[in-house]
Amino acid sequence: MIIGSNLLFFQNLPSTNAHTFDLLKKSKLPEGTILYTNYQSAGKGYSGNKWESEDGKNLLISIILYHSFIKQEDHFLISMVISLGVCDFLMRFIPECSIKWPNDIWVNNDKIAGLLLESSLTGNQIEFTVAGIGLNINQQRFLSNAPNPVSLNQLTGVNYDLPSSLEILASDLDKRYKQLIGGNYGQIKKEYISKLYRLNRWHEFRDKNGLYRGRVLTVGDYGRLIIERQNGEISEYSFKETEFIP
Ligand code: BTN
Repeated sequence: MIIGSNLLFFQNLPSTNAHTFDLLKKSKLPEGTILYTNYQSAGKGYSGNKWESEDGKNLLISIILYHSFIKQEDHFLISMVISLGVCDFLMRFIPECSIKWPNDIWVNNDKIAGLLLESSLTGNQIEFTVAGIGLNINQQRFLSNAPNPVSLNQLTGVNYDLPSSLEILASDLDKRYKQLIGGNYGQIKKEYISKLYRLNRWHEFRDKNGLYRGRVLTVGDYGRLIIERQNGEISEYSFKETEFIP
């Protein structure tokens, strides 16, 4: 086991990702170490947003990955395997799970998990990545204005034991990380693409030029999203260059 071989629990923290970076400044921790907490006072979301999570209700974790075997241009594969691992976990309990590019996990039209991958660079080499995951498990009411949050409990009516959930999640993530180490990138990309939210379905999107109608075709080099517009034009987007309109 790589992911989950070392577990570090904290009752509360400002942010598991931030704390992981602090610890790594002081000493090297083994690959696959998971830091987790019951509560974050300053949980970080994508694009500078805050991540809401009620005390003791959900999984809030950060995983340390060294992955020097991955070339810079293939770095998005890390995000792919983490997203797939979260979906594998969820699909033990529910029939469907999709990945809203680049890093959100959705069930139908609701967001159940968010990933925040942060890397440390030495020169232009990635030294390590901290893969942060916020996965809503037992929370029943969400107070922030985040779009459509949902928890596993709201979907199934079951209250889950967090330590066992973490153990299962770690094992699902570990299997996916080993798939990456095994080097079958084609299979990983195929599975990730097949789970993309709005894959091949016409919907509204927005980019710097305004609203447009399009459909997600695939993910290209460097994890760029490829969308076909209704006039047949193909556009390629890096992170934050386009958004999905509900
Ligand atoms: C998003 O905005 O969708 C990404 C949310 C990521 C939240 C997780 S919770 C554990 C880890 N620590 C953080 O501060 N953020 C990530």
